[in-house]
Amino acid sequence: MNYLSGKHVLLGITGGIAAYKAAELVRLLRNADAGVRVIMTAGAREFITPLTLQALSGNPVHTDLLDSTAEAAMGHIELARWADVLLVAPATADSLARLVHGRADDLLTAVCLACEAPRAVAPAMNRAMWDNPATRDNISTLAARGLHVLGPATGEQACGETGPGRMLEPQALVDQLSGLFRTGRLAGRRVVVTAGPTREAIDPVRYISNRSSGRMGFAVARAAAEAGADVTLVSGPVALETPPGLQRVDVTSAADMHAAVMQRAPDSDIFIAVAAVADYRPQASATQKIRKSEATMELLLERNPDILADVAALSGAPFTVGFAAETEALPESAKNKRIAKGIDMIAANLVGEGLGFEVDENALHVIWDGGERELPCTGKTRLAVQLVELIADRYDSRQTQDKVTPINAKDTA
Ligand code: C5P
Repeated sequence: MNYLSGKHVLLGITGGIAAYKAAELVRLLRNADAGVRVIMTAGAREFITPLTLQALSGNPVHTDLLDSTAEAAMGHIELARWADVLLVAPATADSLARLVHGRADDLLTAVCLACEAPRAVAPAMNRAMWDNPATRDNISTLAARGLHVLGPATGEQACGETGPGRMLEPQALVDQLSGLFRTGRLAGRRVVVTAGPTREAIDPVRYISNRSSGRMGFAVARAAAEAGADVTLVSGPVALETPPGLQRVDVTSAADMHAAVMQRAPDSDIFIAVAAVADYRPQASATQKIRKSEATMELLLERNPDILADVAALSGAPFTVGFAAETEALPESAKNKRIAKGIDMIAANLVGEGLGFEVDENALHVIWDGGERELPCTGKTRLAVQLVELIADRYDSRQTQDKVTPINAKDTA
């Protein structure tokens, strides 16, 4: 399965002869439907021109840490935040040493230091340089810090020698990079996710809705699928493509969403309600288009069912996760909402004034019984991956608790 579709890959190219293969790498990443941005060191630019990488990636190439125009367009922090994964390929012996020491005196090292997304290096160097204890120690240090070391391959080298140190072929790098997103944390679990807005009909041509784009819900559904879950995404009307490897059910109104979810929730292990469900609907939807006649008109609204609360109230309910979109920072109100709805976990986020809806970044304050965690502002794709990790942690610990709780625990308590 291709896990790279829609992902942001930040490619750092350093100065080794294998830099020429970066062109093919970028082409394959684009074929895998990844968004690609390229950072080139001064050494890399001796081997291949930024123009080639710009043409292939479809984005300007980033080269200088202190270039005021580049910084204004996308500085090192923005680049680091943009990335869902950072790959340095080829990674020379010198660049590995610089990463070990946390150097930040060029754009690539500064971005590597600032980047909280998964990072990978594809070493490429002469076999003696690879075998040198200095390089071996550097690789061990980087691996111990959680960097993924992809390769190197063994074979004929540009210097005429044969041995370990060849950069992995571009296709192998793409496959391994894709594999980094397959965590397996939710393998075999059935997960239902709601996403997007709902539309509540006033008459055949008008409706009440909200500004939800569905991006966060789609990102969560995708992250759950990448974690190995069998995912059903129940989506309101949105303009988004279905992420790979999951089943999508399209609905329009809150009542439709309620019916679609209640049909599937009893058989699921985890229910994640990300949809911005309309709280109210017109009590009666006109069968014909309402004509304007009076200066004012009244619309009588009635409450929609609370899908999340209804799932949480099921006997043998799945692990339930809700979202609390607020226009002011109120962890207290999210805590109360979690308890009021009887759900296992709630993710509070701020919406309004460029936050939450219709934007690519978000931050979450996640609360569960006995704990909470801040997930700082980052792209929705990565935020969703972090949230799904947290859900998997809490889900696992609830399963373990259930196993160790004696059957007559209530009597003995
Ligand atoms: O009560 P409030 O709308 O703030 O709760 C938000 C959470 O409840 C979200 O997870 C949302 O998907 C879910 N919800 C729902 N059905 C509703 C209203 C909200 O599932 N009718």
